[in-house]
Amino acid sequence: CGITACLRAEGSLEPILTGLKRLEYRGYDSAGLAVVNDNRIGLVKQAGEVDLLSKLVESKDIEGTVGIGHTRWSTHGPPTDLNAHPHTDERGSVAVVHNGIIDNYAALKSHLERRGHRFASDTDTEVIPHLIEEELDQGASNMEAFRAAISVLDGTYAVAAVFSDEHAIYATRHGSPLVFGEGDDEWFVASDVPAFVEYTNRVRYLHDGDYIYISADGFEITDADGDAVDRPLEEIDWDPETAGKSGYAHFMHKEIHEQPESLRRTIQGRVNSLTGTVALDEFPTDAFADVEQVHLVAMGTSHHAAMYAATLLAARGIPAYAFMAGEYSLARPPVTDRTLVVAVSQSGETADTLDAVRRARSAGARTLALTNVVASSLTRECDDTLLIRAGPEIGVAATKTFTSQVTALVLLCERIVADATGASSRESRDLLESLSRLPGDVQAVLDTSTAEAVARAYAGSDAYFFIGRGIAHSVALEGALKFKEISYEHAEGFAASELKHGPLALVTEQTPVFVVFSGRHDEMTLNNAKEVQARGAPVVAVTSRTDGEIAELADHVLSIPETHPDLAGVAANVQLQLVAYHAANLLGRPIDKPRNLAKCVTVE
Ligand code: G6P
Repeated sequence: CGITACLRAEGSLEPILTGLKRLEYRGYDSAGLAVVNDNRIGLVKQAGEVDLLSKLVESKDIEGTVGIGHTRWSTHGPPTDLNAHPHTDERGSVAVVHNGIIDNYAALKSHLERRGHRFASDTDTEVIPHLIEEELDQGASNMEAFRAAISVLDGTYAVAAVFSDEHAIYATRHGSPLVFGEGDDEWFVASDVPAFVEYTNRVRYLHDGDYIYISADGFEITDADGDAVDRPLEEIDWDPETAGKSGYAHFMHKEIHEQPESLRRTIQGRVNSLTGTVALDEFPTDAFADVEQVHLVAMGTSHHAAMYAATLLAARGIPAYAFMAGEYSLARPPVTDRTLVVAVSQSGETADTLDAVRRARSAGARTLALTNVVASSLTRECDDTLLIRAGPEIGVAATKTFTSQVTALVLLCERIVADATGASSRESRDLLESLSRLPGDVQAVLDTSTAEAVARAYAGSDAYFFIGRGIAHSVALEGALKFKEISYEHAEGFAASELKHGPLALVTEQTPVFVVFSGRHDEMTLNNAKEVQARGAPVVAVTSRTDGEIAELADHVLSIPETHPDLAGVAANVQLQLVAYHAANLLGRPIDKPRNLAKCVTVE
């Protein structure tokens, strides 16, 4: 799920391998690279980690000033050495790396096979070098052959290629991300900026349909017709250190600890504490005045943030519903031009979420992207964008992006409510005042958390359950998701009200239950805690009420600072992130790259 390419006089191998390492967060099962030297393509690829690839590269005598690299997340064909990218034509004149899915590959493959091509892999990607070879055989130039091959592909792709007889990189995108990095006499193409940020922070974001050609003389960006297009040069302030672990054992742990700062960035300049209003310059005055209902679409952790926001909006009188994006596309709930569809996605590239947006748009709804990634596909497809500004997140398990999503959604909710009612209320002022204290509250959780002791106390349990109501329900679901993702232990989240309707049958002395209290409906939730305790289950309460009945009942308390009940879920989530992290760490799990999971799921 990651592409990197480099042209550099001092040699391209090192930046390509560094880039692949930096792209590991996107999730992958195989890695490979190809460099051009002396009219030959040196190809090294295999199933497994980038570190193994580096060792293999060392053992081979290859070098080159231009090359491409890839981390693969299997879609067509299992993770094997042969299915790893790059792929080449039979005589080795071109090597190709690809992200995405080629929908018409089967037809293209059988056509090529009839013309005598023999395929080495099960991948859809391999049709590309063979298509290019066909064109070269007909006398096409490298550029003509590359364009001709791309023009017959249906589906989504970002593609980069090198030819054995030319020191140049060819790349294009259609529905999968691709960024160009411009250094001093060194150039990079990658799926994401961290791949080359150690070499340059000057980037141009390529758009769908763009082609880029890079040679020692410089670069050229053109559209599908071959006409030059200008993509603005932007400077990224992500220093290389940001892409490193800064002393933490895992990116996830580092990212959990970055939350006071990421939350500050999310809020920065967006709250007017004097008037008690939200200032979102992204949207003109009364931008949401005519919104009748809000649909929030998202997957995974982002879906839990969407649920959180739907609860808040509905409580303020705005009809709001959270949908799993993959279901939304199929169910197609009716929308009008007064329906605001908010697509919540850290990466801005999740296929299901993009699909949901496309369907909502074509049905006439207004769309808004809430994402962490500037210029991601989602931002280009939606009418409006609200960035969560969490900074890069490398760990596959989302942490700081969840809390920034919820916080940005709280701001958006306040703005929607203010536009709809035309006034700032006492309620808003209280909430915004608490919001400005949220980074400090999260810092207090990080400084005092006893999550590690809790994780230790319940290590080896049969299962871990998480319950809550209202916003605490979404936090319970997210707590369970995080726990199972990285510890591989059985963990489930439920609405506290659902307990009696099934889950209670699973509760034993061997199933600790994490009970999330937000400060709303706490008495009812306390009754649920008593119910599980009566069945012998240990209760871990996540609460700000450390001196009352909750604390007396609970076997353990994970305390959070007193705050507005609409925000308590953010601090509670941080406690549950820490529990999941420490539980997984005790088990020695590969926390940043859990098995079978990817950071960015660009297939439906
Ligand atoms: C994958 C990731 C999750 C993420 C989900 C949605 O499953 O592993 O961490 O929550 O995709 O991704 P998005 O980028 O749309 O938030």
